[in-house]
Amino acid sequence: MHGPGEIRVTVFPNDRAAARALAKRIAGHVSAKPSLVLGLPTGRTPVRLYQELVWLVERGQLDLSRIRTFNLDEFLGIARDHPGSYRRFMEDHLFKPAGISDEQVEFLNGAAADSAAECERYEEAIAAAGGIDVQILGIGTNGHIGFNEPARELQARTHRVRLKPETRRSNAALFGSDPNAVPGEALSMGMATILQARSIVLLASGKSKAGCIARVVNGPIATRLPASFLQLHHDVEVVLDEAAASKL
Ligand code: GLP
Repeated sequence: MHGPGEIRVTVFPNDRAAARALAKRIAGHVSAKPSLVLGLPTGRTPVRLYQELVWLVERGQLDLSRIRTFNLDEFLGIARDHPGSYRRFMEDHLFKPAGISDEQVEFLNGAAADSAAECERYEEAIAAAGGIDVQILGIGTNGHIGFNEPARELQARTHRVRLKPETRRSNAALFGSDPNAVPGEALSMGMATILQARSIVLLASGKSKAGCIARVVNGPIATRLPASFLQLHHDVEVVLDEAAASKL
């Protein structure tokens, strides 16, 4: 715990070491509170983290059978079993291999007929779970967290959002490498939803994130760089590999 405006930064030699350390840290949280409420990201960055968590579960060093999870976001207009959905990504990389059951998982339903009602339902589900204990975040190269894209104004609560072309490009791998096949809209936790987590860890690796990480940690708070709002939180840590830390 520390004051707002100070982001703790921890640098590891490579992304594997960072993922391993963070997995161990999460294991520590879960052993202290087996019913931990965990907020989770998608993207390439957390894949290693999920591998490390699965590894710990397989070796009997971590029991995730009582945790609850809330993912940050989901594409609009696709069902949970669509191969490009974030739900599917999480099933493949974490939920199935770690034995996390449907009852433990809350997810935004991108195919919901009424997206506003779906966003409201999600906020209520987070509140009913007692709030998020530990929120893990990745970061877009443009500084987005969840799908809170750089803009003149940011939304506080879970909402429907239009995705930037660069964001659709960086998610193209999930849609046969075709950026135009990536849905143009998504549902995402809002800035306040994220900042209300008791503790936040942002994981970033690789050179492409270095410029943005330096601005997030040392720059002014700006809606054009949504992750900079993390400076307002009293318990946030940025976990990096050396490449992502190279401009600090
Ligand atoms: C997506 C997600 C973000 C994630 C970002 C970075 O746009 N909505 O939550 O942080 O991608 O992805 P990557 O880890 O692949 O760089």
